[in-house]
Amino acid sequence: MYLGLDLGTSGLRGLLIDEQGAIKGSAAVAFGTDHPHAGWSEQEPHLWIDACDKVLSELHRTAPDAMANLKGIGISGHMHGAVLLDKKLKVLRPCILWNDTRSHAEAATLDQIKNVRELSGNIVFPGFTAPKLLWVKSYEPKIFAKTAHVVLPKDYLRLHLTGLLRAEISDAAGSSWLNTGTRRWSQRLLEAGQIDNLDMPDLVEGSEPAGSLRDELRSRWGIEHEVMVVGGGADNAAAACGAGVLKAGQGFVSLGTSGVILVGRDEFAPQPETAVHTFCHAVPDRWYQMGVTLAATDSLNWYSKIAGVAPAQLANELGEKLKAPTPVHFLPYLSGERTPINDSHVRGSFVGLDIAHGRAELTKAVMQGVTFALRQCLEALHATGAEVDRLLAIGGGAQSDYWVQMMATAFNMPIDVPEKGDFGAALGAARLAICGVTGRDPEEVMTPPGIAHTVRPNQKLLADYNAAYEKFIQIYPAVRAVQ
Ligand code: XUL
Repeated sequence: MYLGLDLGTSGLRGLLIDEQGAIKGSAAVAFGTDHPHAGWSEQEPHLWIDACDKVLSELHRTAPDAMANLKGIGISGHMHGAVLLDKKLKVLRPCILWNDTRSHAEAATLDQIKNVRELSGNIVFPGFTAPKLLWVKSYEPKIFAKTAHVVLPKDYLRLHLTGLLRAEISDAAGSSWLNTGTRRWSQRLLEAGQIDNLDMPDLVEGSEPAGSLRDELRSRWGIEHEVMVVGGGADNAAAACGAGVLKAGQGFVSLGTSGVILVGRDEFAPQPETAVHTFCHAVPDRWYQMGVTLAATDSLNWYSKIAGVAPAQLANELGEKLKAPTPVHFLPYLSGERTPINDSHVRGSFVGLDIAHGRAELTKAVMQGVTFALRQCLEALHATGAEVDRLLAIGGGAQSDYWVQMMATAFNMPIDVPEKGDFGAALGAARLAICGVTGRDPEEVMTPPGIAHTVRPNQKLLADYNAAYEKFIQIYPAVRAVQ
């Protein structure tokens, strides 16, 4: 049996599978995020530990046989968060999360330093880890002085499970301290980030052994033998493992809190100026690239709260068959934007409202704005040389067939809708554990899900969607000029 733990921003989920991938149990615990100031986003790491212990206890209660046979654990987690630890491995302050933009000035400074983009393969975005440490150094110097180690969120969870400090490579690639090409810490980047005095954890690949479950925890959950904990993966890398996206030509579009288009790459081919992220994959010798729009289902959820109608019902109100684009444009920059617009200050807007427009028109505008933001990500990915001619649709928003039809038409690309099932980051993490324990080839373990159906572009609406997209991309500079 193998356990995938997915440390998400809103909760932690555990998924137990056997070696063939059949699900044997699952449990989840939710937790919140603190926003002490506008643009700040923090979590106390002990929340993750408590949630992990509760999830494991629940699995022990509901699937005792599977737990007793547990052989390996993989952990996936939200990226870029900074957990600061003192010499005794005590947490020094709440974790500053991936969607916290307080360190935008530090990010811009780091991004200008020679070789930083070239070595890390990426723009230094305000959400990345390195600028957070520069912020702490300036604004919380006493805490910075006590900092002996920095770890990413899921690597902190591993410290709890194994007692060992390790940094897993796909996650480390989002820190701006890793040489993403060589998959090693870069002395130059650590110096640029002014943390070259810290003791950086040893690096491990996602499918490599990275410790054993502590004896105390094993006995708490009735496990008599050793349990291997593998490196695991950053949430998007682990989701790619769950969706069978490992190599060039394979890709997914995820409509989750944020929207992501991710494609596998067989080599390190960064093009940071496109604002595409280039990160190490969770399996050795592979990379992936992705474009991120920060508020995907978050945009629909936001509108749903205002409309007082659940998101699924809003989507249903649009009918079954895709119709012409709406002239109302929605810029989904509710939390700023990443790809291709690296702008943490911009905020969203509706443009072109008419007195005749009602709820359904605005729902459509929200979905369309997110879809067009994702098309911009796709075009940025193409600009890096990434080739992909079909995408797998995953994430909560992909439950709306209307939204998937809109994406297929706006991207002019077939989109595969998977059969119902589990293929997210928790599955990917459990699959990494299978590879670590058995030594099986990741390509054989990380197969794509079965496809329920393929949605093809609506040829009759292609020209209209292209014309609407051309208008959409002109709105950002105009809106930005007055914000
Ligand atoms: C990726 C990113 C998010 C987080 C949270 O760069 O910031 O996907 O990993 O899910």
